[in-house]
Amino acid sequence: MAAARARGNRMDKRAAARYPYAMSSPELATLLLPFASGALRLPETGRALFLRAEPAAELAALGGRLLCVQGFRPTFAALEAAGFAAAPEASGEGYDLALVLLSKHKAAALGDLADALGRLAPGGLLVAAGRGDTGAQAILKKLRAACGEAAELSKNHCRVAWLRSAETLPPELAAWTADAAPRAVAATGAVAAPGAFGWDKIDAGSRLLAESLDARIKGRVADFGAGWGYLGREILARCPNVRSLDLIEADHAALEAAKRNVAPREGVALDFLWRDAAADRLGPYAWIVSNPPFHAGKGGDPEIGRAFIRAARRALAPRGRLLMVANRHLPYEATLTQAFRAVRVLAEASGFKVIEAET
Ligand SMILES: C[S@@+](CC[C@H](N)C(=O)[O-])C[C@H]1O[C@@H](n2cnc3c(N)ncnc32)[C@H](O)[C@@H]1O
Repeated sequence: MAAARARGNRMDKRAAARYPYAMSSPELATLLLPFASGALRLPETGRALFLRAEPAAELAALGGRLLCVQGFRPTFAALEAAGFAAAPEASGEGYDLALVLLSKHKAAALGDLADALGRLAPGGLLVAAGRGDTGAQAILKKLRAACGEAAELSKNHCRVAWLRSAETLPPELAAWTADAAPRAVAATGAVAAPGAFGWDKIDAGSRLLAESLDARIKGRVADFGAGWGYLGREILARCPNVRSLDLIEADHAALEAAKRNVAPREGVALDFLWRDAAADRLGPYAWIVSNPPFHAGKGGDPEIGRAFIRAARRALAPRGRLLMVANRHLPYEATLTQAFRAVRVLAEASGFKVIEAET
């Protein structure tokens, strides 16, 4: 917790009151179901690993024996605040228990299962759960096909499966690991991990926003929600007067890809910050460029985009400007006009709008 504070991970009270990210999910409740029902017991000794971890009071009994792996910064911060040992990437092996919350992206979920199985000691317990509507059944079916019988339960429209790891790892795991690794994004020369935003093609909204980037964007600049670095690359290519560029991204894997994809330009101080753009203290910037997220879990949620707009306002210097793109149907106008002195639409095309707002 103290470490989190030292990294500037404080959220002010007003921001916390309107915070858009839910910190526990129905799949978490389902993951813990076999323990709650008495079918399984938490190990009294040995170490445990939790991939895509969310805070769960039920796991506090594992204390320092549990490593929570979470690459999404807001959830990582919530884990640390709840007292769990957390890291953005998995490490170590010989674990006795591995818990996995399944990504809704199949390749990422199978990659996590391969990672968890590879880190378990022989005979160690794997417990994995995911939502039915994001394909958990198909993923767990693949797990069963590779590893043999698994016990299963369904609840909350979610499914949980568990099994003991064998002495010899199934051959399928190598392919699952390879499929989850960063790969080329078509026609860009960039790489991104499957499941990250825009991992298979450049987003049409981001492309439209890039067309509005020019010499007016100058001084200290940030990209809020930088992804694998598409807009960062465009800012460096199109904006000669930029002096520094902070790429701010909550998804650790996407930021690691951005480090590979965005080459520094002479005279520009380039930084890659694993931060929660909606909550962490950032800035002051002369310009913020953003294609804000509009998903938390499944389905759209404009409150996340609104939180980005309010956060951008807080992080901008006097007379600073936000340049953002959004789906035309997303209702951001009221938030923009409340937070900013002047708001105008710069471009509209293919269902997107590019908006410029001045403090
Ligand atoms: C619509 S995508 C845009 C990505 C990239 N800028 C582009 O144009 O391709 C939004 C990005 O915001 C990131 N994101 C979501 N919540 C965030 C948060 N609280 N703080 C920072 N980044 C966040 C997502 O991981 C995603 O990469």
